[in-house]
This record gives sequence, structure tokens and C-alpha cells, in this order.
Amino acid sequence: MKTLLSAALAAGLLMTTAGFAQEAQPAQQTGAEPAHSPGAATSGETGMSPGASHSTPEAEAHSATPHYPLKHPATLSWSFSGPLGHWDVGQLQRGLKVYKEVCSNCHSLELVSFRDLRALGYNEAQVKGFAAGYQIQDPNPSATGEMVQRPGIPSDYFPSPFANAEAAAASNNGAAPPDLSLMAKARAVERGFPYFLFDIVTQYAQGGPDYIHALLTGYGQEPPAGVTIQPGTHYNPYFMNGPALAMPQPIQDGQVTYDDGAPQTVEQYSRDVAAFLMWTAEPHLAERKATGLVVMIFLIAFAVMLWLVKRRVWAGVAH
Ligand code: HEC
Repeated sequence: MKTLLSAALAAGLLMTTAGFAQEAQPAQQTGAEPAHSPGAATSGETGMSPGASHSTPEAEAHSATPHYPLKHPATLSWSFSGPLGHWDVGQLQRGLKVYKEVCSNCHSLELVSFRDLRALGYNEAQVKGFAAGYQIQDPNPSATGEMVQRPGIPSDYFPSPFANAEAAAASNNGAAPPDLSLMAKARAVERGFPYFLFDIVTQYAQGGPDYIHALLTGYGQEPPAGVTIQPGTHYNPYFMNGPALAMPQPIQDGQVTYDDGAPQTVEQYSRDVAAFLMWTAEPHLAERKATGLVVMIFLIAFAVMLWLVKRRVWAGVAH
């Protein structure tokens, strides 16, 4: 009776949080096992061997429901990581070059205007020249009612190379290349236990750039046995929605010429364009971190002062 009561109590506690509601179900039925692990229940149902490892692509390929991505992105060191994070402007300029010469053939940056590039160290005239290199469809029709194309001006946004989403999909095997403005914030691979605990302390928030870098450098590998690649898609173990994606390997060694001596490799291009996309997704990251640091220092100093004041105020009071 006592065990039943405590089991019911534990089950009730679990039920209060929506996430645990399902896990509490078996405990209620048996009435004696509130700490029933959901993993054990499901592995029994699906008939999967309990010792099966999920970490290798081979194991993923053979399990009934593979987990994507097949490989986890490497954690890179970025200039903008951590509380002292700042932009490496040279890297952002290289990233812009990679985006312009390679990615912009398929992807737009519809939330980034040309004048935003001032933040990357370009002056007014350079931004004007850069904008004029693009043909933009003016939102207002001409006096005779036709839509006109004109050279870009600094207040225009990076346009899509396709007329509309259907045209974009039709030229890319049915998958329209997504806008990249917020991509570095929209994608991040779950890191799982215990990393997410460390991430709270280290303020890891670079899942997006790590993912983009891994995706761009992840082509050219042999799919493991049992993984079927649909025609028109390209195997990439780092893609988070399946074993293959419609984007072919976009960049090769030596494709973009750097003028600052940085290595002209897929590895370097991927880092630079991932950093650039982090900037497009969060242009005020560096200011946010600088302000945060000052606020933390102030709060710590303020706490020390309050403690000293408290000691002073209560100094003469017996307690
Ligand atoms: C030939 C056209 C083409 C080029 C060039 C290209 N992409 Fe893509 N990209 C695509 C297509 C198509 C998709 C959609 C893939 C899918 O969902 O299957 C895509 C998807 C993506 C994604 C999203 C992946 C996801 O998780 O959904 C990222 C990130 C990306 N591209 C980055 C880049 C970068 C960075 C460059 C430049 C180095 C680039 N792409 C160049 C066609 C292209």
C-alpha cells in the first residue's frame, strides 16, 4: 500500500510537466515502478538490441529510424565565441567574397542591405560600387506600368538570383535554396548530454557556424552500406535532415581568390563564409557581448559594495 501510494505520488509529480507525461504512463499501469526508463520500454517494443550503438554512420544506416545528421559537426574556435567575442573583420570580408562569388548564384540574403556592409570596414563609395554591381527590380513600376531593372543602390537588399521560389526549385532538383540571412541562427545540431551543461558555462552559441562549416566540408565521402541516395541529391553526413541534400558541393579548392594571403582551400572558405553568415544573422553580436561584459563587471562590483555597506550598517548591532 505504501509503495503504491509513493508510486502514485511520483507519477503525479511527473505528470505535472508535460514533457514527462508520457514517461509516467507505464509507471501508472504497473503501479510499482515510477522510475521506469522510457528508453528500455521502446527498445523492447522495436526489438532493437539494447547494445546497439548509434554513434557510427553504419549503425545509423541499419537502425530502423536513423538519426540525422549522421556525423556531428566539429566544434571550431571562432573569434566571436565566448564573453570576449569580437568580429575578425578580415575574415568577414573574405566570407562576403565567397558568398558573392559562389553562394549568391543560388542563395539570397534578403534581410541584409548593401549599406550594412559599412560595418565590414567598407566606405560609402565602395558600398555604392558594390551595390551597383547588382541588378535590382525596382519595387515601383515605370510610368508605363512595366517593372524595371536598375543597378542597385546602398539601401537595396541582396537579391535572390531567381524570379520566385518555383523557379528556384525548378533549377535545383525541386529544392529551393533557402535564404541565408538567418541561417547561422536557424540551424544548430543538438549536442546532447553532457555538452549542453558545459555549454551553459562556456556560452557556446556557435552551433550554426559549426554546422555550416561541417556541411560545406562534408562532401565527397562514400555513403555507408545501406544508405540509399535519391537521384539528384548529394550524400553529406553532416546534413541534418537526411543522408543527402539537393545542394551539390558548392565550392572547390582555389575557386575564390583571396588577396590577404589566407589559404585558398575549401576548409578556409567554409570557415570564412560561416563567420560571414553569423554576422548577417546577428550583426550586433560584438556590441551585445561588450555591453554584457561591462554589465557583469558592474554587477559584481556593486554586489561587493552592497556587502561592505551591509557590514558597516550592522556593525554596531549585536546579533
Ligand atoms: C547550385 C546552387 C547552390 C549553390 C552555389 C549553393 N547552394 Fe546552398 N543550397 C542549395 C540548395 C538547392 C539547397 C537546399 C538543399 C535541400 O534542402 O535539399 C541549399 C541549402 C543550403 C543550406 C541549408 C542546409 C540545411 O540544413 O537545410 C546551407 C546552409 C547552404 N545551402 C549554404 C550554402 C553556402 C554557404 C554556399 C556558398 C559557399 C552555398 N550554399 C552555395 C543550392 C546551392
